[in-house]
Parts: sequence; C-alpha cells; structure tokens
Amino acid sequence: MKILSIETSCDETAASVVEAKGDLTEPFFNVLGNALFSQIEIHKKYGGVFPAMAKREHAKNLPRLLVEALREAKLYSKNNNRDDRHLDEEKCGVIKKILEREEGLFEDLKNISGEIEKPDVDFIAVTSGPGLEPALWVGISFALALGALWDIPVLPVNHMEGHIASVLLKTDEFKIDFPAVALLISGGHTELVEILNWGEYKIMGQTKDDAVGEAFDKVARMLSLPYPGGPQISAMAEMARVKNLPRKAKLPRPMMHSGNLDFSFSGLKTSVLYYIRDHGDLSDTDKEDLAREFEDAVTDVLLNKTKRAVEETGAKTLIVAGGVIANKKLKESFHELENVYTGLKVFTPTKNMSTDNSVMIALAGYINVSQKPELLKEKNKISANGNLSLS
Ligand code: KG4
Ligand code: ZN
Repeated sequence: MKILSIETSCDETAASVVEAKGDLTEPFFNVLGNALFSQIEIHKKYGGVFPAMAKREHAKNLPRLLVEALREAKLYSKNNNRDDRHLDEEKCGVIKKILEREEGLFEDLKNISGEIEKPDVDFIAVTSGPGLEPALWVGISFALALGALWDIPVLPVNHMEGHIASVLLKTDEFKIDFPAVALLISGGHTELVEILNWGEYKIMGQTKDDAVGEAFDKVARMLSLPYPGGPQISAMAEMARVKNLPRKAKLPRPMMHSGNLDFSFSGLKTSVLYYIRDHGDLSDTDKEDLAREFEDAVTDVLLNKTKRAVEETGAKTLIVAGGVIANKKLKESFHELENVYTGLKVFTPTKNMSTDNSVMIALAGYINVSQKPELLKEKNKISANGNLSLS
C-alpha cells in the first residue's frame, strides 16, 4: 500500500509518500517521495522554537512540500479537465470549515485541487501529538482537507511511535523480537518504553524536568553556540577526544543510582552553568573539555538506565530513537550493548531518520493499520494533543 504522510509537530515541515509491504514481523518500506523543510534558521535568532512562527511557516510551506513529495513519487498528475478545476460547492463548504483555523491554507488547497489529480495513495497519516498544538493543527487540518478533497482516509499518528518506527527503514531486512525496550531521546522527550508488541507500549521511566535534547540545547546556549545545540556540543566533544585533551571539568551523573528508571537533566545543566561561572572566560579547549564531559555524563546516565530496563524486561531488542541519537558517541555506546547482552539486538535510525521527519509517520501509520485495518474505515475525528502519550 502507499501512504501519504505529514509531519508538523515542531520545527520541521514534511510530507512524504511511502510504499509499505509485508506483515509486521518483516515489513518492507520504500520511500517514493520525501520533502522536508527545516525551520531551524528561522528559530535560531530566538534561541529555540517560537510556536506562532512555527505555525505560520508550516502553513506557508506545506502545500509546496506536498507537491514536491508527490512529484518525486511520480504520483503528481496535472488535472487537465477544465470543468473539474474548481471545487464543487458542497466540498468547498466542507473544506472551508476544516481549514477555518488555518489562514491562507484554503486558497492553497483551492489551487491544489485545480492542479493535482487524486493521487494513488491508500491513506494519509498525520502527526496528531505530542508537540506544539498550533503547529500540529496545521498538519491535521491540511491532512483532513486533502482527505475530504480526494476521499482518502486520514489516520492520526503519535509522533513518538513515529520515532520508534524510524528504525524500520533499513535496506537489509531484519526482524524486531519482543519484548523490546525503546529509549526515546529528543528535544521534548526522554523516556524508556517497554514494547510488548507493536501498539502495546508501557512507559517505564521518563524525565522529571528537561529532555536530553533540551539539555544539549541549553548547554550550547551557555557556551554561546547557536540553536540547536546538540550537533554543536557533539562536534566540540569530538574535538576534545581527537586532541586527547586532559580531563578538567567534572559533572554529576544525576539520578544514575536512583533505583528507578526516571531521569533528570536540569541539575546537570545547572552544574554546567556553575562551572562556567566559576571558571571565568573559558578558552576553546576548556569548552571542548566541558562539552566532552557533558556528553559523557549524559551517555553514562542514559546507558545505565537503559541497561536496567533491558535487564528488568529481558528485552530481546533495544531501539534507541529521537533526534539526540544522531549523536555519534551515544550511538556507538548503545550499539556496544550487543556485546554486553548475548542475544540483544540494538537498532538505531539512520541520521536523516533520527531527527523529525514524515517518513517515520508513514511507518507508524502502517504499524497501526496492520494491527487494526478497521482504522481506515472509521471517520476519524482528529484533534491535536500536545501531550499525547504512548500508554
Ligand atoms: O527528534 P527531534 O528532531 O525533535 C523533537 O521531536 O524534539 O530532536 C531534536 C533534538 C534537539 O534538541 C537537538 O539538539 C538534538 O535533537 N540533536 C542532538 C544531535 N543532533 C540533534 N543532540 C546531541 N547530539 C547530536 N548530534
Ligand atoms: Zn521528534
């Protein structure tokens, strides 16, 4: 089947077309078209994501990204029938109502309806949460309007399930054995999830304050590095390792031995702040040393808790996903767990699939539909839920 997917939960606007085959024991995915616009440059000057701006940018870019993804997937065919170039009155009313909260999108959709023939896709998957609600609504309204225009079912998808599913896009075939544990590490989340089967999730532990990605971003800001800070800190830490700098900075490993699977990163961030305050002007090598120590502290805590979760559940598979797994040191450390636990398979997404994208939303949509085909028959009343949880 072919899936059109849309993602607008934070600062990436994306649309893709994915072909999906096979049952969930060994699914096969082929990305036919993928268009993504990152708003990072726009939010950089605010030092983080500015929700009203994110919403406006999603609405501005989504129509052209849809066209781009459909074109790449060779599913774009021009509607040449002159009589058919306008929305009929009834449809126009329905779509206008769906898009009432999204300024400008109705005009874009009118153009699309005159321009593109209904594409050959089985359903539209759209992120409904968690994330920034005004941003989520743009994607949802747009997906519902397209669904109404083309009579295609629309399926809401949990963004975090998307991150979990992101590891399924591999060229070599593989199988996920259950029980599995997922560590989800992104700008908004840090959680350990037990996966009993696809769709059956249990949160085992999560952060009590900042998410790991958020901590990376805040520490980067303290070191006057631009948003998003993860890749910057990671590059500086790598420099410290390449230069084999002597270790000066010492940071705590918060909650490492707390006896549960929860995390806390705000104390670590404060320790960095105190270190900077107490050491005056840091040289470039001091900053590299500090970045390495911060990355090591995060790695130690994440690894320690994840090992515990693997032991508690007897997991056969470990999935580590979310934007922060783009971090090389973390990725390598997690893959090394295959040498610690016999039989454990560790899966991480490719770099492009680590940070937010719409391909992973199509994959999670396929998981949902494979488990419950009836979902495509239901008329879904979809709402944005900024705090949508996996369990
Ligand atoms: O999953 P994601 O793209 O968006 C959310 O759903 O939040 O994750 C973004 C987060 C940002 O905090 C960013 O700094 C972090 O992922 N990140 C990294 C790296 N690349 C991105 N953190 C550490 N090292 C990296 N190389
Ligand atoms: Zn994400």
